[in-house]
Amino acid sequence: MSGELSDLQDLLDRMERLPPSECSDLTSLLKGWLASQHAAEVVEKDSIPQQFGMIGDSPAMRKVFDLIGRIVRTDIPVLVLGESGTGKELIAKALHQYGARRRKKLVPVNCAAIPAELLEAEIFGHMKGSFTGAHKDRIGYAEEAEGGTLFLDEIGDIQLDLQAKLLRFLQDGEIRPVGSNKTKKIDVRIVAATNRNLQERVKKGEFREDLYYRLAVMPLELPALRERSGDIPYLVKFLLAQQAADGLPAAKISDDAIKAMAAFAWPGNIRQLQNELIRSATFAQEGVIQRSDLSDDIQAAS
Ligand SMILES: Nc1ncnc2c1ncn2[C@@H]1O[C@H](COP(=O)(O)OP(=O)(O)OP(=O)(O)O)[C@@H](O)[C@H]1O
Ligand SMILES: [Mg+2]
Repeated sequence: MSGELSDLQDLLDRMERLPPSECSDLTSLLKGWLASQHAAEVVEKDSIPQQFGMIGDSPAMRKVFDLIGRIVRTDIPVLVLGESGTGKELIAKALHQYGARRRKKLVPVNCAAIPAELLEAEIFGHMKGSFTGAHKDRIGYAEEAEGGTLFLDEIGDIQLDLQAKLLRFLQDGEIRPVGSNKTKKIDVRIVAATNRNLQERVKKGEFREDLYYRLAVMPLELPALRERSGDIPYLVKFLLAQQAADGLPAAKISDDAIKAMAAFAWPGNIRQLQNELIRSATFAQEGVIQRSDLSDDIQAAS
């Protein structure tokens, strides 16, 4: 199968796994796919360095790519650490997409976004009548990810009682749906991420030490963007191409503006860079972002 055909096959496979409610929005899925194809073309045409679908060539990112290369085909749990906006979710996607489980699902769970009292049932499933509102049996995210990858995002936020249950799951690969007295074996790879300092939380007694060591078999620390400023020019070109393909404001950028961006510290990392590019492209005259189009603090830094 040619590259494009196998990509299309991939897309179809992904569509088939979507719940019917999401299937209605096939056009947006196709748009997303076309945008990613376009971005891939830009990467190739402009020789933008990337590995595992991530842009970067700095020593810090090469270390990350090297580690991914070593673990991507294994089932070792991975704990992705890094400041907000550094690409933790993208790492989880790469570990799934380039790994042996890519034909199965990657199921993300944002542990900080789900109310604590519902999180156990969301992850492990529940039986009919096990709590108010549980009108029928429902499988949880862990079971939905069977054969694939379960991505526990913002793991640093979960409460101690659920931490104990997660530990058991990590230890013996068994889940017990809420309200059930039976356990089930589940085969998933666990990738977890947090922007919190977990060791600090362990010291304070807010995070179980045994769970920490289970998760942190393979810690993968993502550098902040300011520690890889050599990647900024590549990221800028890539993100501009990506936003143009996504139907967001499109523009080219002057070398001087790129220089200014490379000198800024980016506390919000790549997400902040993305937002700045959308903002400045909106104001760019004649389709080229100049230094004067950038936010004041970025101009001031350079
Ligand atoms: N190396 C990279 N190359 C290209 N795009 C990237 C890279 N790293 C991150 N991005 C993009 O930057 C944005 C932020 O990344 P992501 O959501 O993975 O960060 P995060 O660490 O999970 O952030 P948060 O802590 O806020 O959840 C995403 O749109 C992602 O696609
Ligand atoms: Mg994230």
